[in-house]
Amino acid sequence: MSDFKDKVVYQIYPRSFYDTNGDGFGDLKGVTKKLDYLKDLGVDYIWLTPFFISPQRDNGYDIADYRQIDPRFGTMSDFEELSAEASKRGIGLMLDMVFNHTSTEHEWFKKALAGDKKYQDYYIFVEGSENVPPTNWVSKFGGNAWKYEDGLKKWYLHLFDVTQADLNWKNPEVRKELKDIIRFWKDKGVSGFRFDVINLISKPDSLENDYEGDGRRFYTDGPKMDEYLKELVKDTGIEDMITVGEMSSTTIANCINYANPDEKELSMVFSFHHLKVDYKNGDKWQLMPYDKQALKNIFKDWQEQMAKANSWNAVFWTNHDQPRTISRFGDEGKYWKESGKLFAGLIHLMRGTPYIYQGEEIGMLNTHFTDISQYKDVESLNYYNILIEQGKTKSEALKIINERSRDNCRTPMQWDNTKNDGFSTGEPWIEVPEFGKSITVESQLNDEDSILAFYKKLIRLRKENKIISHGNIKFFTDVPEQVMCYERALGDEKWVILGNMSAEKIVVSQDSEINQKLGGKRIIIGNYVNTGKYNGNELELKPFEFVVFG
Ligand code: GLC
Ligand code: CA
Repeated sequence: MSDFKDKVVYQIYPRSFYDTNGDGFGDLKGVTKKLDYLKDLGVDYIWLTPFFISPQRDNGYDIADYRQIDPRFGTMSDFEELSAEASKRGIGLMLDMVFNHTSTEHEWFKKALAGDKKYQDYYIFVEGSENVPPTNWVSKFGGNAWKYEDGLKKWYLHLFDVTQADLNWKNPEVRKELKDIIRFWKDKGVSGFRFDVINLISKPDSLENDYEGDGRRFYTDGPKMDEYLKELVKDTGIEDMITVGEMSSTTIANCINYANPDEKELSMVFSFHHLKVDYKNGDKWQLMPYDKQALKNIFKDWQEQMAKANSWNAVFWTNHDQPRTISRFGDEGKYWKESGKLFAGLIHLMRGTPYIYQGEEIGMLNTHFTDISQYKDVESLNYYNILIEQGKTKSEALKIINERSRDNCRTPMQWDNTKNDGFSTGEPWIEVPEFGKSITVESQLNDEDSILAFYKKLIRLRKENKIISHGNIKFFTDVPEQVMCYERALGDEKWVILGNMSAEKIVVSQDSEINQKLGGKRIIIGNYVNTGKYNGNELELKPFEFVVFG
């Protein structure tokens, strides 16, 4: 299996990237138009979120036809042009395979509903009485995870929206269909795949109520996961392509297998524990300031244990399902730039393949919308209603949605200061927020001190220094809570990475293990001392300062 250790991936949410025909909806031609920008940034791959035929209830994660392009995004020839132009620039395309479920508009599901037994077996249909769902499992988007079909007198499982019916992976015909879809896109010349919520595909044999949780412990990382992944990879011949699996509520032990080269499953995994450190009681819909110590502990565990097992992580702060990083962990005001650079640096110097989500590289911020009607995401709208039902006032509910909505990352890419920040000449499907409107690509392109310039520097650094791509990693625990600190090592070379995650000055004590390591070390990034070397004094980090010594 090839490794992708010195590569960097850029995630594009096409509907919000660039609109070329003024319909307010970003399109594939828009991605092609911006390839030079991505080439200049230095990324190796683009992961495109789904652009297949879909009713768009969940913005394309509800697929009705895996082999055709939704006309909103363009045509197959637009895709072929994008693929050819990307390849000219040395950029590969990764497509998003949503294989846990299909849209209920997919012809398989329609046939199932029409009574075709073969297709009923493509999904998880269970007979039962209309009043009692087969289990009490909760859908990830709110409400019970089963829907009753009157015509069939059966329930079907939907772990996500009611229009996203879970596929039955136990049925070999389903697995064959999905493998054919991979072969179809592989033949079109794509470079790799991202597999959506892939660790939910292996459902348990018996369906039980969950009296402790929402059901996820029964269907997450299920019994046949490794078997299904191995089969999928082997039968489609994608061992050497770049693949990443999205792992929902997973464990390190499971991910060690999924992303170990010897297992021939996936090149790498996304896990999300570090993005739950601001969930009060583990509940996404209860706010609390993020727990810095927990964040550091999670990275320590994942980074060190995956390294020990020779398994590989995808590293990232955000994606199309998450809030903006600076709004969440940094400072939207005075230290906007510093915090943007700090969090970028901390991720890019870790052990793993970094993923940059569109707009992150210029420091885009959360929406700060003032009315629920400005939100579009099905999850946000469902949970707004649930919060109101639970007794929250409208403004309390809106405050939670403002922090947690997936739309925070789905507003249009901010290119320049023309209409709609240069995203579209028409009416965008979701508005460009007033807040943070001046944060654009154009305003940073020629600024050496910009967040954008810093991302370019980090990508270049990875290409030039094997210690970043191939080095080992160790976290230091003997540091103030606000400081994240780790060491990378390759052969005799050692780098120490330090970041102050707070808006205060922090002193790292003189006798700490780190200070002793730094004596005489060069500064690779940052301007901590003028001499370019650590001068042996007490180490003081400015607000959100990021320094790499090597
Ligand atoms: C993944 C996607 C998310 C989608 C869900 C269901 O988590 O990233 O956007 O809603 O799967 O497909
Ligand atoms: Ca368009």
